[in-house]
Amino acid sequence: MRCTVIIPAAGSGTRFGSALPKQFVSLLGVPILVRTLQAIEQTSAVQNIVLAASPDFHSFIADLAQEYGITKIAAIIEGGKERQDSIFNALQTSICADSNVVLVHDAVRPFITSDFVESIIEAAWEHGAVVPGLVPKETIKECTEEGLVVATHERSRLRAIQTPQGFRREVLVSAYHKARQHGFLGTDDASVVECAGFPVHVVAGREENIKITTPLDFRWAEFLLR
Ligand code: C5P
Repeated sequence: MRCTVIIPAAGSGTRFGSALPKQFVSLLGVPILVRTLQAIEQTSAVQNIVLAASPDFHSFIADLAQEYGITKIAAIIEGGKERQDSIFNALQTSICADSNVVLVHDAVRPFITSDFVESIIEAAWEHGAVVPGLVPKETIKECTEEGLVVATHERSRLRAIQTPQGFRREVLVSAYHKARQHGFLGTDDASVVECAGFPVHVVAGREENIKITTPLDFRWAEFLLR
């Protein structure tokens, strides 16, 4: 089985509040993106990484890969306007075309382990589409833009969804083409696959698999590494 991991790293990270996009910010001496790449590098079931990034950072990423001994980056491609456009571009590469399973993993989730990534690959091959999720700790309410509560959803049926999200390649490619035809824009890859009508399975996520989005997340990440 051949597996490629797509890493969308083309975001500008406006919620993080630093001049440098957050994926390149150093976390206890090592850039967040490098920590994520190292985790995937160590996962033997993954053969290739396709990175989507702004062209301004392509040579910087290539230099980082060399410095840290990351050998699995098969292509660094141009990101798109939205995260979904970045993934669409990555799916056009011959590297993805040669893969049975494609995983998509946020550049800013460095706390993945090889056993977790491998469990996602296996579940993706078995089910076609799989996402890791956690039951939210908070009660989740749906609100209007004006701040009025519309509904309170039953917590045990809700999941906060993480990456890596895993797919049989043909499922993901077909879903992304349908989304482009219909102008659907989702916040994760599974929503694109759901919209195309494919079933998506949920497996248990990992609590430490945080997405470094805000300055406080960054402090949590430092804490987890100490
Ligand atoms: O914006 P958000 O936090 O959802 O971004 C998740 C991931 O998608 C980040 O790794 C970010 O760099 C990436 N991204 C991208 N292309 C965009 C926007 C975000 O690759 N146009």
